[in-house]
Amino acid sequence: MTVYNNKVQIQKHIKKLKSEGFTFGFVPTMGALHEGHLALVNEALLHNDFAVVSIFVNPTQFDNASDLKKYPRTLERDIELLQTQSEDIIVYAPSVDDIYEGQTTAERFNFDGLEHEMEGRFRDGHFDGVGTIVKRLFEIVTPNRAYFGEKDYQQLAIIKKLVEKHKLPVTIVGCAIYRDAFGLAMSSRNERLKPNYKKQAPFIYKTLQAAKAQFGIKNAKEIVEWVENEFANHKLLKLEYFIIADVKTLKPITTQQKNTNYRAFIAAYADDIRLIDNLALN
Ligand code: PAJ
Repeated sequence: MTVYNNKVQIQKHIKKLKSEGFTFGFVPTMGALHEGHLALVNEALLHNDFAVVSIFVNPTQFDNASDLKKYPRTLERDIELLQTQSEDIIVYAPSVDDIYEGQTTAERFNFDGLEHEMEGRFRDGHFDGVGTIVKRLFEIVTPNRAYFGEKDYQQLAIIKKLVEKHKLPVTIVGCAIYRDAFGLAMSSRNERLKPNYKKQAPFIYKTLQAAKAQFGIKNAKEIVEWVENEFANHKLLKLEYFIIADVKTLKPITTQQKNTNYRAFIAAYADDIRLIDNLALN
């Protein structure tokens, strides 16, 4: 396994291997790797000769300086973990300067409105930051395919839009949400959960499942009210939003249409830790 910190060097390495006909699956991450990330890496290894994993806590996608500061950074452990997976992994762990060259600002994007829903509503400028870093990483890594988790469903939809609008030569592959034994969606942020919050956090997924069971019986508005009430009565978890949305537009709905796919999306706070999750309803 090779680890690069410098874009010129990794580009040189990938260019040489590409000229020999090898293919590359790319998994961009912010590190503090867990089984959810590893599932993406293994999917990339299955369908490509090499997996490139980037580890970079991207400052331009944080709207909150303290969230950026608190984000877990475990580079040595991440590298050791990747080493246990395969020799065919190339790691790119750049500095902020290697990526931003002294200009730590995000480009502005138009993702046809996808960026204004959910996470975009609550995290100002977040998707401009994500678009900026992913586009730059694609330019550096030049992957054949890139793998993103459905855990961040809106991000996945936005990356597909980025690729479509900018005609980027890469295929985007979405991967299922990886959960722990209690149903909690794996996240680098889970490491910071205090034991009592960790115990309560699977309530998020349980509520999504209960919402799914009601879908088609109650209308969307009634289900939203039911979920809001469940959280209002919960002692530890605070709901930020729960919506039922059309998977294409990500816009919240109040009534169902035929031949449309819907998903439930949730964001909740466990103490000061923000957790997100989602589930297909039909
Ligand atoms: P990060 O949160 O580290 O996630 C990296 C990738 O892993 C994303 O595609 C995310 O959806 C996926 N992932 C995380 N937890 C998962 C889980 N439990 N199941 C399945 N996939 C999961 O998302 C980012 O980093 C950043 O925004 C990034 C795309 C790297 C840009 O900075």
